[in-house]
Amino acid sequence: MKISVAIDGPAGAGKSTIAKILSKKFNLNYIDTGAMYRGVTLLAQRKGINPEEIEELCKLIKSSEFYFLKDKLFINGEDVSEEIRNVEVTNKVSLYAAVEEVRELLVDIQKNISKNYSVIMDGRDIGAIVLPEANVKFFITASPEIRAKRRYKELTRKNKIVEYENILQEIIKRDYIDSNREINPLRKVEDAIEIDTSSLCIDEIVEQMSIYIEKAIESVGD
Ligand code: CDP
Repeated sequence: MKISVAIDGPAGAGKSTIAKILSKKFNLNYIDTGAMYRGVTLLAQRKGINPEEIEELCKLIKSSEFYFLKDKLFINGEDVSEEIRNVEVTNKVSLYAAVEEVRELLVDIQKNISKNYSVIMDGRDIGAIVLPEANVKFFITASPEIRAKRRYKELTRKNKIVEYENILQEIIKRDYIDSNREINPLRKVEDAIEIDTSSLCIDEIVEQMSIYIEKAIESVGD
């Protein structure tokens, strides 16, 4: 029995924290598609390739091997999980993710993974494009201020020196680019269950989502 769960939503809504917990609870492979866009951005920055240099970007992606191992992203055998969260990548990732050809190549990889395994995938276009046939789809939101506060706490916990106001501005800017780009913008698909997490703690969110996943598992098993 194979099932797939799609989670979409804006930056900092808590998608990856929740998806990791749910992946363990229901024994699903967690695929962090944002990490893949971040990975492309990191590789491109290392090689000095701008988002406009489409041919170079495609070559770079086609010659790289992406895989996930224990929630960590490896590219060509290198664990890039920490480096893809740095400020340079975060500030530029939405520009690389807006490139049609980049999206096509990454969506292909993501679709292929989901063909063979039960997955829980999070991102911006999962319910609409990557897993339109997903057994359950969620759209997770929270106000920009709450999302910035969460991100601020997460980073200061890791001893990163950051300003709340800068994080809030970066989130607002990224939301704007992600929601207004021409190709596969962030949006809630009709059949997605929307959960506003502004006043919910992680356990409460996980509990709510688990009910829907359990139902989906039951109906696939029938
Ligand atoms: O974790 P955070 O909410 O900061 O974002 P992320 O999931 O790591 O995604 C980073 C960026 O990748 C997003 O701001 C989008 O520009 C892009 N992205 C996308 O376009 N499509 C996806 N399926 C996932 C991420």
